[in-house]
Amino acid sequence: MRILAIETSCDDTAAAVLHNGTVLSNIISSQDIHSYWGGIVPELASREHVKAIGVIVAQALMQAGTNMDGIDAIAVTNGPGLPGSLLVGTQFAKGLALRFNKPLYPVHHIEAHIYSGYLENPALTFPSITLVVSGGHTALFVVRNAMEYEMIGTTLDDAAGEAFDKIAKMLGLQYPGGPAIDRLAKEGNADAIAFPRGLINQESYDFSFSGLKTSVKRFLQKHPHERIEDIAASVQHAIVDVLVAKTLRAATSNNINAVAIAGGVAANSELNQRMRQTCESRHWMFVSPRSAYCMDNAAMVGYLAALRIRNNVPPPADFRISPAAIRRNVAH
Ligand code: KG4
Ligand code: ZN
Repeated sequence: MRILAIETSCDDTAAAVLHNGTVLSNIISSQDIHSYWGGIVPELASREHVKAIGVIVAQALMQAGTNMDGIDAIAVTNGPGLPGSLLVGTQFAKGLALRFNKPLYPVHHIEAHIYSGYLENPALTFPSITLVVSGGHTALFVVRNAMEYEMIGTTLDDAAGEAFDKIAKMLGLQYPGGPAIDRLAKEGNADAIAFPRGLINQESYDFSFSGLKTSVKRFLQKHPHERIEDIAASVQHAIVDVLVAKTLRAATSNNINAVAIAGGVAANSELNQRMRQTCESRHWMFVSPRSAYCMDNAAMVGYLAALRIRNNVPPPADFRISPAAIRRNVAH
């Protein structure tokens, strides 16, 4: 079973080909244009997708050594995401499905992120606790099997990646700010400033990062000459403290000994290191997918479709896009 997968929910145009769940190609084209505006400009994102999608899909097919005749099914992200961006990918996929008479599987973007730990390492056991942490989402899931998961907590305001990006902007760093803060933090003192750890002591698995954002803003007004490396390290430490504490508690209280992280922020070096240490010291399995499966990508979209097909889920008769329920760091 060969699947062509397409992902255009935000600002990455991506296509991949999978053969029985194994990735043959995974092409991602990131849109640099938004860094000038300090956040994603939805209209520009859709136009960039239009320009890129044909080439990216052709590259994915070519690198997999196949063409549309060798494809059995098409998978495409149908939400959540930016409406214009989703439209480009879904219309392109629909066009291919009609022209080449292939079944079309809509895929939920966050579900695709949730199962990317299994894409990286199929030996990851069920049930697992998966932390999806990206620019649009921060949520904890109990993943029971290939078809069943439960969200046990989510952010009440900003996503962790959104907090990284917005704080980076206050520090005069370019979008996306997460990687820039990660780099600067390596040269800074993480204990220099005690920024708030939202909801860390609360029973719930929910997150809140807006207090941190406000606190950094006030700090910068009062201390304009503080070392940027120390601010970056302290901010990152505060975010990672909360992410690790809640994930650890979710695993412990649900008696689960397998943990995965996913989404763009999963590339953060401190998060990786501390999550790995936490899991290894308890002899739990820990999976942190490679960055090409963490950032927005089509391999995870194809993998989820492959899981559904393996479990005999038919393609829906009615294909819709559902852009709702998303928070984005949109430029103003
Ligand atoms: O999953 P993703 O590519 O797109 C969304 O679905 O949001 O995630 C992008 C987010 C951005 O907020 C970016 O700043 C963050 O991931 N990010 C990082 C790192 N690399 C990317 N945040 C912290 N540390 C990093 N190394
Ligand atoms: Zn994403």
